[in-house]
Amino acid sequence: MTKQVILTGIRANNDLHIGNYFGAMLPIIDMAKTRSDEFDINLFIPDLHSFTTPIDHSTLNESIMNNARVFVAAGLPLDNDAIHLYRQSYVPAHSELTWIADCFTGMGEMGRMIQYKEKSYKSGEDQVSVGLFNYPVLMACDILLYNAAYVPVGDDQTQHLEFTRDIAERMNNRFGEVFTVPEPVVRQHAFFGKDQGLRIKDLLDPSKKMSKSDETGKGVIFLSDDPEVARKKIMGATTDDKANIQYDKVNQPGIANLIDILALLRNTSPLEVEAEFKGSQRYGDFKQVVADEMAEFLRSFQERLQSVDDQLILHKLETSEAAMNDVANSTLLRVQRAIGLRA
Ligand code: TRP
Repeated sequence: MTKQVILTGIRANNDLHIGNYFGAMLPIIDMAKTRSDEFDINLFIPDLHSFTTPIDHSTLNESIMNNARVFVAAGLPLDNDAIHLYRQSYVPAHSELTWIADCFTGMGEMGRMIQYKEKSYKSGEDQVSVGLFNYPVLMACDILLYNAAYVPVGDDQTQHLEFTRDIAERMNNRFGEVFTVPEPVVRQHAFFGKDQGLRIKDLLDPSKKMSKSDETGKGVIFLSDDPEVARKKIMGATTDDKANIQYDKVNQPGIANLIDILALLRNTSPLEVEAEFKGSQRYGDFKQVVADEMAEFLRSFQERLQSVDDQLILHKLETSEAAMNDVANSTLLRVQRAIGLRA
């Protein structure tokens, strides 16, 4: 009996910030560790997705490696055989199957993808690449190649997951059972528990989530920030004039955000943090505590990152990639046969 597969990707060309770290990376690592007895866990770096919009290619290779390093520094074990860590472009079947699936995908259904519409609306249709347009097809193939059942993704990826189910069902209906259809979105949510994507907010504008696209960088704490710089960012965080520390996301979003951040740093709950500081009027003192603990977190994280062993990572990547090529190629061959490319 082969185990069911849980699969997810984290983009490589991100300047990772604490929102990514606490909201996405830690939960994924935790999931990988706790579910790996029962499931195969596929974690991959979607490097082929990283230039659907223009990037600096001179740093791409380094940022792919760094992505893996950050996972390891954050606690991803390299010695667990049920956890597979691989680079998408090292498994050529992803590109190969994407071409095939492209030919069974409608222009209209890709044009309706919200993420595409948003990005192309900003820059105009002629400025966006065909890669951005059909990237949901590549994403679907990332999932279908490994017969994955569960795919933890944020809300912004829900539509892409639904498309994955659509294309799988469409091709199954036409050619027989070539693909495993991933579980529907509601079942995904039930399976992974929590409302996915706890969101840390921007420090200067707590009405929006922390995002690398913030132009000033002052509202965002990057994992690579100098601890002293991060300290200043916390001290400069927007709060309010109520002079009362309490966990009220609606009326005091800035303070609530700092409470969330401190709770994450301490691995405790916001209510516990609130209880400790409740009623205090001195935002400066509270910020000082958050700033100190943030600086300490970054210092120790950066130290772990420095000491990560690249050779161990490369060995893990290569071992996983060999195994993943076997799985992916067998799915690809099944499809090639089904559509008449192979006898
Ligand atoms: N598109 C995802 C994101 O932007 C990353 C991704 C690519 C992915 N392929 C995937 C996630 C397959 C889950 C499964 O976050």
